[in-house]
Amino acid sequence: RKVVALVPAAGRGLRMGTKTPKQFLGLGGVPLLVHSLRVFEASRVITEVILAVPAEDRDYCRDEIVARHRFSKVRRIVAGGKQRQDSVRHALAEVEPDAELVLVHDAVRPFVTEDMIARVTDAADRHGGAIIAIPSRDTLKQVGPDHIIERTVDRAPLWQAQTPQAFRRSVLQKAHDHAVIKGYVGTDEADLVERIGVPVVVVEGSGENIKITRPEDLIIGEAILAERTR
Ligand code: C5P
Repeated sequence: RKVVALVPAAGRGLRMGTKTPKQFLGLGGVPLLVHSLRVFEASRVITEVILAVPAEDRDYCRDEIVARHRFSKVRRIVAGGKQRQDSVRHALAEVEPDAELVLVHDAVRPFVTEDMIARVTDAADRHGGAIIAIPSRDTLKQVGPDHIIERTVDRAPLWQAQTPQAFRRSVLQKAHDHAVIKGYVGTDEADLVERIGVPVVVVEGSGENIKITRPEDLIIGEAILAERTR
């Protein structure tokens, strides 16, 4: 069974406030992206990885990330696009038609596990689409423009979406084609798939599967890494 992982790593990381895009910043001495790619390389369900990176960083990624770390599953490196959704679409265009399932995983979530990959892939195989998510933990308030709380939202049905997100290839392709036609930009892949009416299920992830977005996330990331390698 062909299961292809698309890894969008073409952001500029403006919220991080560094010149280097965050996916190339060091965590435990190696670029963030390397941590995510190691897990996909080791995964028994993944057969191929397609990486989307900034056009100007393709050579660096080929030599310093993929060749240096011997990521044998990364067979294609494509140039990303303006928005994350464009980067995913460029990678998706490289997937061969005989691939059954496609996973999308943000390069900047270095704590994904092989177990998450296996569980989300199985769920997508059964339902058409599945994402890793966690139940919302904090009390949620709906707030008006004047900063006055309008109500407390029932958090029981609310989950926070993470990646990986997995889909049958045909489903994700149709969802992206539909988004292009409608000129719609979604916040994640599930958003696009929900819009074509295909059910997407949640598979419980972990609070450690954080997205490295702001400088403080790197501090938390180093702590998680230290705990795991102890
Ligand atoms: O900016 P954000 O945290 O949402 O980025 C999530 C992932 O999408 C990151 O791995 C980032 O590199 C990637 N991305 C991309 N192309 C863009 C913007 C973001 O591949 N144009």
